[in-house]
Amino acid sequence: MTDLTAAEAPGEWSLDDLADAYAYPRTDGPWLRANMVSTLDGAAQHDGRSQPISCESDMRIFGTLRGLADVVIAGAETVRQEGYRPARARDAFAARRAAAGQTPAPAVAVVSGSLDLDFSLPLFVSPLVPTLVLTGAGAPPDRIATARKAGAEVVIAGEGSRVDPARAVAELADRGHRRLLTEGGPRLLGQFVARDVLDELCLTVAPLLTAGDAQRIAGGPAVEVPKRFALDALLEEDGFLFSRYRRS
Ligand SMILES: NC(=O)c1ccc[n+]([C@@H]2O[C@H](COP(=O)([O-])OP(=O)(O)OC[C@H]3O[C@@H](n4cnc5c(N)ncnc54)[C@H](OP(=O)(O)O)[C@@H]3O)[C@@H](O)[C@H]2O)c1
Repeated sequence: MTDLTAAEAPGEWSLDDLADAYAYPRTDGPWLRANMVSTLDGAAQHDGRSQPISCESDMRIFGTLRGLADVVIAGAETVRQEGYRPARARDAFAARRAAAGQTPAPAVAVVSGSLDLDFSLPLFVSPLVPTLVLTGAGAPPDRIATARKAGAEVVIAGEGSRVDPARAVAELADRGHRRLLTEGGPRLLGQFVARDVLDELCLTVAPLLTAGDAQRIAGGPAVEVPKRFALDALLEEDGFLFSRYRRS
């Protein structure tokens, strides 16, 4: 047992220290990290959003993880509900990103079968780095054309209207995106878990109880055998736990 009162508070860390602590491991292939927040009773959202269960330090870590990633992968419902905007270039990570050969900000990759997305939004028409849309070969051709016209790069990563999560990872890696970050939502994360392509989970546990019927951080059909992860790091602040688990 570890005394968690000795855990460190991320609010006292500089963004540079946080970036060192959360650096991606050196690997030959892609590394898929997820960043999620949950209440004590497992809710991944309140009133349809994650912001009410987050906190300032959670957002610092959220920003740091983006600052380290080549690409941020999000399910279409998260993009719609949370009003996703393009990722920003931030001074705090500029030198680190340049040294790693990364673009000034990560690209955003939206996973969608319907392509029922507002392609007139800044996420698609004015990102720093072109937004990717991951979809299936059977996606509506007119929606594909609209996405491309807006400036998005459409990547076919599955048959029918479905994206195969493992193929999505491979397609992104083929385009030079090795440091992958998924911000969910739960339906998308559940598929990465089920396909066994999730390498790491950065999970914030908020000291909150919400009851109700909110989603958990990963949804969809249960896996046959639970996937084992190992605790890599743990920070604490104001009762919030900031954990980092790697696939065992
Ligand atoms: N607690 C957290 O850390 C956290 C993080 C993120 C989101 N959230 C919350 O979670 C909620 C949204 O999450 P969600 O689980 O409902 O949705 P989601 O995973 O963000 O998105 C689901 C949508 O993504 C597309 N999609 C997912 N898998 C696909 C596949 N294999 N092939 C093709 N398309 C696929 C589909 O889009 P189309 O319908 O366009 O086909 C599907 O409707 C929001 O309330 C948000 O606030 C919480």
